[in-house]
Amino acid sequence: MNMIQNRFLVLHLLFYVLCYWQLTLSQISNNTCQRGDYNIGFGLSSSVHSAHNPSTNCFLSQCSNQSDSCRPSPTLCYIYRSADNQTYCAPGSLCEILEVCNTSSYRCSSNTSVCILNSCCSPKAICLPLIWTTLCPKIIPCQLQFTPILTYAAGNSPQYAVKGDFNSDSQVDLVITNKDDDTIRLYRNNGNGTFTIQRTIPTESNPERIAVGDFNNDNHLDLIITNLGNNSISLLLGDGNGNFALLTTFVVGYLLSDIAVGDFNQDGLSDIAVVIQGNNAIGVYLANGTTNSSSLRILPTDAVPHAIGLGDFNHDNLIDIVVTNIGSNTISIFLGQGDGNFTNQTTVSVGMIPVSIAVADFTQDNRLDLAVVNFGSKTISILSGDGTGNFTMTTNLLMSASPWSIIASDLDSDNRTDLAVTNTDSAYISVFLNLGSGSFSAEKIISTESSFPYGLIAGDFNNDARTDLVVTNNINATISVLFNSCQS
Ligand SMILES: *[C@@H]1O[C@H](CO)[C@@H](O)[C@H](O)[C@H]1NC(C)=O
Ligand SMILES: *[C@@H]1O[C@H](CO)[C@@H](O)[C@H](O)[C@H]1NC(C)=O
Ligand SMILES: *[C@@H]1O[C@H](CO)[C@@H](O)[C@H](O)[C@H]1NC(C)=O
Ligand SMILES: *[C@@H]1O[C@H](CO)[C@@H](O)[C@H](O)[C@H]1NC(C)=O
Ligand SMILES: *[C@@H]1O[C@H](CO)[C@@H](O)[C@H](O)[C@H]1NC(C)=O
Ligand SMILES: *[C@@H]1O[C@H](CO)[C@@H](O)[C@H](O)[C@H]1NC(C)=O
Ligand SMILES: *[C@@H]1O[C@H](CO)[C@@H](O)[C@H](O)[C@H]1NC(C)=O
Ligand SMILES: *[C@@H]1O[C@H](CO)[C@@H](O)[C@H](O)[C@H]1NC(C)=O
Ligand SMILES: *[C@@H]1O[C@H](CO)[C@@H](O)[C@H](O)[C@H]1NC(C)=O
Ligand SMILES: *[C@@H]1O[C@H](CO)[C@@H](O)[C@H](O)[C@H]1NC(C)=O
Ligand SMILES: *[C@@H]1O[C@H](CO)[C@@H](O)[C@H](O)[C@H]1NC(C)=O
Ligand SMILES: *[C@@H]1O[C@H](CO)[C@@H](O)[C@H](O)[C@H]1NC(C)=O
Repeated sequence: MNMIQNRFLVLHLLFYVLCYWQLTLSQISNNTCQRGDYNIGFGLSSSVHSAHNPSTNCFLSQCSNQSDSCRPSPTLCYIYRSADNQTYCAPGSLCEILEVCNTSSYRCSSNTSVCILNSCCSPKAICLPLIWTTLCPKIIPCQLQFTPILTYAAGNSPQYAVKGDFNSDSQVDLVITNKDDDTIRLYRNNGNGTFTIQRTIPTESNPERIAVGDFNNDNHLDLIITNLGNNSISLLLGDGNGNFALLTTFVVGYLLSDIAVGDFNQDGLSDIAVVIQGNNAIGVYLANGTTNSSSLRILPTDAVPHAIGLGDFNHDNLIDIVVTNIGSNTISIFLGQGDGNFTNQTTVSVGMIPVSIAVADFTQDNRLDLAVVNFGSKTISILSGDGTGNFTMTTNLLMSASPWSIIASDLDSDNRTDLAVTNTDSAYISVFLNLGSGSFSAEKIISTESSFPYGLIAGDFNNDARTDLVVTNNINATISVLFNSCQS
């Protein structure tokens, strides 16, 4: 065994010791690179090493930087490149213990190491043990295309749509609200890329927003609907065969807007958060197990709250709430306490008339970010989350029309979360592709077959692992299903 191999052995021992130490103390040092089952501890952040040398101005990117296709890493791992242009995520390591590659063959003496060309060592070509590294996959986005577009009749003034398997056939069905004829309509997914209108169900006056939950824990999807006509919320229980029966109606007494479902008090039951636009507040209804009664908590917002989003913004495994306020051009953040209570709002300014919001990790740093649609400014504000519940505006995406509804989903199969937005004064949807590092492409236009697309949801409706879109066309009284046929 030569000198270099000996040193590897010592280092391996060292890092097994570190793993053991970390597991025992369950305290991971900030200088840790987690790869697979290994926590590779190292204390190199200020010293010269394979990923850092201030005197030569050499600093490798961290794997969490989305400029690469590397899997996100919350720990200190770096992006290395090999001669065949593969990228690898691995820790920094003292140069003196690393084998140097053969610079004509770019090979390492052992096939358990890979030759890296971009290190901060001198010479740069060094060998990294494969056991430390994760190969970063090369991901090539597909070419965006939505065909066919299938259009189905809706009722009068269709508003918003939800998806779910409502008839227990393992296919993703649709339900929409028809505001002007006081109905909801269920479209059964036939499983062959088509839908059939299965049922139209009467509701209370002017149903608008709709959300899905299981409020009685019978494993069948239920619906919650806001009724603009009488300022109430209806709870309809599903029977798993595509039938829905009205269970109860909560009269709120103020103009309502968006609605969301989550388990806010960790009792395994679906609770409801509704935007009480007419009272500058959110109402949180906690299901109490009998489902037809509930305790209500009121959270004050800024002026004229409109859209709601849920997510764990501060990494405590509890659901938090974000609301857009169209009267004050802000968003309000409420951090969940896990018992159905929330902190008072903290607010962040956005663009003019923020009408909708999407919650997703756009920067692949394991922290939720926000995309806020500003109807008045014709922009989308991207706000980067810091993992504590703080959000900072990083980018404003410019739009050519007046945006309304937004969804966040990977549309071009590159594992990055893209955005699609309906435009209320056009006949197209706008798509912004996530390019990594928190940046997005310029607006891409996707023509719809009908003007004034309004509500928008995303889902895989033909089981091809690509994200399709469903749009409600509220002037034309139709819905359109845009099948994603992105070309590899
Ligand atoms: C690691 O932690 C130490 C002490 O808490 C801190 O001084 C140092 O900046 C941290 N390094 C990184 C890279 O976060
Ligand atoms: C990610 O990389 C880009 C370009 O490579 C750089 O501008 C940006 O500052 C990096 N971000 C982080 C968080 O390191
Ligand atoms: C390697 O990747 C770099 C940067 O992505 C690119 O400019 C270069 O053309 C690639 N080389 C090969 C041989 O693929
Ligand atoms: C480097 O690789 C080339 C080609 O495989 C070989 O001819 C040469 O002997 C190697 N050099 C060393 C120092 O191993
Ligand atoms: C590495 O080399 C050894 C001996 O040459 C061989 O048995 C083994 O299969 C090789 N491993 C890989 C992953 O190529
Ligand atoms: C899809 O399924 C439906 C219901 O089973 C059937 O009526 C229709 O003909 C099928 N369409 C195609 C294109 O297979
Ligand atoms: C649910 O609410 C009803 C009516 O307010 C009340 O009688 C019942 O005790 C509550 N159940 C639980 C488990 O809190
Ligand atoms: C949660 O709110 C309820 C009702 O306002 C209150 O009785 C309870 O003390 C609160 N719990 C905490 C932990 O603040
Ligand atoms: C939350 O807001 C209420 C009034 O809306 C106020 O009475 C209370 O002190 C606030 N709590 C905190 C912790 O700021
Ligand atoms: C939010 O960020 C500010 C400054 O960036 C900081 O002072 C504050 O503590 C952060 N808030 C939380 C809840 O971490
Ligand atoms: C994309 O993400 C999925 C789900 O997280 C994962 O299984 C898959 O390996 C990823 N693909 C690539 C190429 O990273
Ligand atoms: C309504 O839909 C039909 C069929 O999809 C389409 O031909 C027509 O142009 C649409 N009308 C408007 C106003 O968009």
